[in-house]
This record gives sequence, structure tokens and C-alpha cells, in this order.
Amino acid sequence: MNISEKITVRDNLKNLHNDGDNMPQHIGIIMDGNGRWAESRKLPRTLGHRAGVDAIRDIITKASNLGLQYLTLYAFSTENWKRPEAEVSALMKLLIEYLKKEVRELHKNNVRIHTIGDITKFPESVREEISRAKELTSGNNGLCVNIALNYGSRDEIVRAVKKISNKILCKEMDLKDIDEDLISIHLDTGGIPQVDLLIRTSGEYRLSNFLLWQCAYAELWFTDVYWPDFNGEHLVKAIHDFQNRQRRFGGV
Ligand code: IPE
Ligand code: IPE
Ligand code: MG
Repeated sequence: MNISEKITVRDNLKNLHNDGDNMPQHIGIIMDGNGRWAESRKLPRTLGHRAGVDAIRDIITKASNLGLQYLTLYAFSTENWKRPEAEVSALMKLLIEYLKKEVRELHKNNVRIHTIGDITKFPESVREEISRAKELTSGNNGLCVNIALNYGSRDEIVRAVKKISNKILCKEMDLKDIDEDLISIHLDTGGIPQVDLLIRTSGEYRLSNFLLWQCAYAELWFTDVYWPDFNGEHLVKAIHDFQNRQRRFGGV
């Protein structure tokens, strides 16, 4: 980043603080490019994932300082099981390590940990660590960090349809009760507002099955930066760009 870019970012930060009203409520991030970050340094992919975990710390701190309410981080997709077993288990180990190491600090900073996705497919040791983190931070009312784990939007929609169908079968509700709000609350993100700003790193321009319903009107922001190099200043730049967009929601 050159000096003038740095100054712009600093100015952006000032504007962000002055312009609280136009802050996105919910930011989603597809944290992509760990593997290529490592490969470009002739390192094993797992070291890329480790560097990716380090990048999360800075982003959570910045998001929290900016007063963001919801940050959803895509950490493991329903499709990521296709990766070599060694990479999948390295990712599980990193997740446990991350939660063990960071949860106290997150708790101190009033962060609430939440997850979306079907974690029943995860090893017991991972699920235990996740519940511990959720329990410890459940009373906090600062930034909600929502980690997408074994998450796929289509899988989430299938599970929501099953939940709703079951309630209809048990006569807990009627077919005519189904509307957009009802579907929204049966998704894993039930109770969390829709995504305002969706960020994807590493120069890929796709959603990869992330929050398809919730991103219906999200502003999209892409960068070529690989996730391990993404920092608080990039986040500020994305928010600043968001604040300069005009959202019409189909109106004029
Ligand atoms: C994102 O980085 C992390 C996960 C999907 C878990 P990648 O591992 O997809 O990195 P690239 O896309 O191969 O560079
Ligand atoms: C999306 O990245 C999933 C996560 C960031 C966890 P991928 O690297 O798995 O996506 P594709 O395969 O390039 O679409
Ligand atoms: Mg990738």
C-alpha cells in the first residue's frame, strides 16, 4: 500500500466513525486464498490456513472497534469435504486450536460466538470446543462472530424445509403460514439480519454456496488479496465503498 492509499484509508476510517448510520449491520466474508498464499511462498497449504487464522484476529478486532453487529465468516463449506483427508483434519485441528487460544480474549472483548452449518458431522472434540465457546460468550452483546462450519446454503435450505414440513405434519403450523419471514427464521441465521456487505478475497467472483438467501440484496465487494494478507485496512476500504453505494432494493 503506498502513502496516498494509506492516507485514504485513514480518512476512510475517520468517515466511518462519523457516519455511524450508514454502517452495514451484517458483513459476510468468504475467506479465500489460503492455499494459493502458501503455494506462492512454496509452503504447504496447511501453513496458508494457519496464516489465514491469524488474519481473522485483526479482522474481528477491527470489526468490533467499528461497532459492527454481525460478522459471518465462511470457514468450512459442505463441499470442502472433497479435499484431501490430511487437509480436512488439519483444518479441524486449527479450529480447535483457534477456539482454545482465542475464546477468552474474544469474551473479554464482549464478542459473542455463534455458528451456522451442520456441525453434527464434525468430530466430537471439535463440537465440544464450539459449545464451550458459545456458552462462555452467550451473554455478550458486542459483535456477533458467526462462523460458518460445514455450511452450505443449499443444505441449510433443505434443512429449513424439513423443519417447516415437520411442523406442518405435526399440525404446529399451517401451509398458509409459510412466507419469507417464516423461511428466514428457520434458516441457521434465524434472528440475524440479512447480509448488507459480502466480501470475497483471492480474486474469485462467485458465492460458492454461501448465504444465497441472506445475500439477496447484499452489496458485493471483491479483492485480489489472498485471505492471509487481508487486514483491518482492507475491511475499512470495503465498508467505505459500501457507504458510497446506492442501494435501491428494487425501488427507484
Ligand atoms: C480458503 O482458502 C479456506 C478454506 C476453504 C477452508 P482455500 O484453501 O480455498 O485457498 P485456495 O482457494 O486453494 O487458494
Ligand atoms: C469457499 O471457498 C469456502 C470457504 C472459504 C470456506 P472454496 O475455495 O472452497 O470455494 P471454490 O471451491 O473455489 O468455489
Ligand atoms: Mg479456495
